[in-house]
Amino acid sequence: MRVLVAGGAGYIGSHVTLALVRAGYVPIVVDNFSNSRRSVINRLKLISGSDIKCRDVDLTNLADVVRVFQEEVPAAVIHLAGLKSVAQSTAYPLNYYISNLSITFNILSAMTCIDCGEIIFSSSATIYGEPRYLPIDEEHKASPLNPYGRTKLYQEGIIQDWADSNSRASAIFLRYFNPVGADASSLIGDAPTGAPNNLLPILGDVAMGVRSEVTVFGCDYPTRDGTCERDYIHVSDLAQAHVAALQCQKLHGTEVFNVGTGRGVTVREAIDTYSKILGRPLAERLGERRTGDAAASIAANSKIITRLDWRPQLGFEDACRDDFNWRNKLDDLIDV
Ligand code: NAD
Ligand code: UD1
Repeated sequence: MRVLVAGGAGYIGSHVTLALVRAGYVPIVVDNFSNSRRSVINRLKLISGSDIKCRDVDLTNLADVVRVFQEEVPAAVIHLAGLKSVAQSTAYPLNYYISNLSITFNILSAMTCIDCGEIIFSSSATIYGEPRYLPIDEEHKASPLNPYGRTKLYQEGIIQDWADSNSRASAIFLRYFNPVGADASSLIGDAPTGAPNNLLPILGDVAMGVRSEVTVFGCDYPTRDGTCERDYIHVSDLAQAHVAALQCQKLHGTEVFNVGTGRGVTVREAIDTYSKILGRPLAERLGERRTGDAAASIAANSKIITRLDWRPQLGFEDACRDDFNWRNKLDDLIDV
């Protein structure tokens, strides 16, 4: 089965592409490499031992998107392409709305042209905003706190309207909690361009000496050790959730699934775990709270476990180990 992976060269998309090959699907990566490297495709070929088809296309260009769909004729689409920085979305909201929404309009239009009715969309737990209760289930009110989160909510709405209007369409929204880690091969992983904002890449920077210390954003939260708690999901488990979504019995319409472990890890625990993997303590300092941070964000994951027969196989320590191994290889790999 041919599956078009929009954004398939990115951090999560590259792991999804690998999981698809391993599950016997034929992925077609469509990416313009605006936030990823061309060498990812060669590295995916190395890990999988398979040829990986890749089309260099800007998904905001409707004519190009329709042409690539007509040429490739995928049976399903996994849509991970778009801009994803919360801070950038607040500074340049129109860029975020124009880019993320037009990519989705174009993908749905091209799917309609070739009569392709199956889409899996990368959504985010950021859609829930400040949690009203924990763990957060799929019924939790969606109330995003920034333009990036609103682009996710609007894209879900657009895809839902499209699916409702098409009797052969089915759409699955996967709301990711905090993706971390790297493939066990250490050949693909998170390689943010510019200074990272997320905790794990920052811990990796401190481990590699790129940054002198990590600042703990607040230690007076109502959590077990006062630091914020998050549900970190290993990216390889997350990738596998896409395969489970492709394999499930499709009903007409739309389904939403949280993808998380159901367990929280605090910033304190994250630093300690990464330090243990490193074999020495990571330098840290206590700082002020970061604006917009919730004390805790943890997924209720029983729906995906029951309905898609998916469950996480890897823990946070695995993610730190895989991230560290990847960071050790990264400089040698960029052009491979
Ligand atoms: P990423 O930036 O690594 O991957 C996105 C890919 O899309 C990149 O390869 C980029 O080059 C490509 N892309 C962007 N604009 C494009 C365009 N106009 N045409 C063609 N390709 C384009 O991001 P990621 O971390 O892999 O995230 C993938 C998806 O998952 C995103 O939609 C993101 O919002 C969502 N998500 C990510 C996280 C996270 O923490 N990483 C959490 C929740 C949801
Ligand atoms: C952030 C985004 C969220 C996005 C997610 C994944 C915000 C407010 N939220 O979530 O929308 O979906 O990334 O890309 O930006 N921390 C530190 N020191 C640091 C960095 C982080 O203490 O230098 C703490 C944060 O306070 C947080 C935790 O580590 O409690 C995780 O932070 P991060 O990786 O940025 O993820 P989120 O804040 O959950």
